[in-house]
Amino acid sequence: MIRLSILASLLCGVSLLAACDNMAKQPRDKTWTPASVGPDRKVWPPQPAPNTVAREDRPQPAPALTPTLLARGKERYEIYCTPCHGYLGDGDGMIVRRGFPRPPSFHSEALRNTPTRHFYEVATNGWGAMYSYADRVTSDDRWAIAAYIRALQASQNTAATELPEAVRGTLR
Ligand code: HEC
Repeated sequence: MIRLSILASLLCGVSLLAACDNMAKQPRDKTWTPASVGPDRKVWPPQPAPNTVAREDRPQPAPALTPTLLARGKERYEIYCTPCHGYLGDGDGMIVRRGFPRPPSFHSEALRNTPTRHFYEVATNGWGAMYSYADRVTSDDRWAIAAYIRALQASQNTAATELPEAVRGTLR
């Protein structure tokens, strides 16, 4: 009986060693390395499925500000940011109302004066309790969201006298 258990633990040790050996030899990719052809002649690492965000989606410079970009930003903001930041950006999102830590309002003096890049960078890297969105929102979409936050800020902080004549006429 004793001999048998010694044998069993020896065998177990050998197989563990073998497993370690294999793990040490397996290929590894570094973040941001370009895709290469793997041993099975397939492209390695696997390519992202449609409508997912690739790990290779590195930070990019800001795209041109257009109505299309703003519309895209509104759509993405409402999907990804409203649960906490709310539709107006005042930090009154649905899950905040149910107890999640309250984010700061985008209409504070500090966030109104921050460069647009700050919104992009917070969405890219996270901020304090807020996690990064880089793995689910593409770089261009993060810029689009940043542009839309600027529009949200303008919507809450523009004096009536600064509005175009035609728009002012519609106010009461
Ligand atoms: C799950 C809730 C949640 C979601 C969703 C969320 N945030 Fe936040 N956000 C927070 C919290 C909480 C803070 C405050 C974090 C802290 O100060 O520790 C914050 C802070 C911020 C700030 C303020 C940084 C500063 O300078 O004070 C910005 C900008 C921001 N978020 C942008 C975004 C954008 C853009 C999105 C959508 C892509 C988003 N957030 C989605 C919770 C969220």
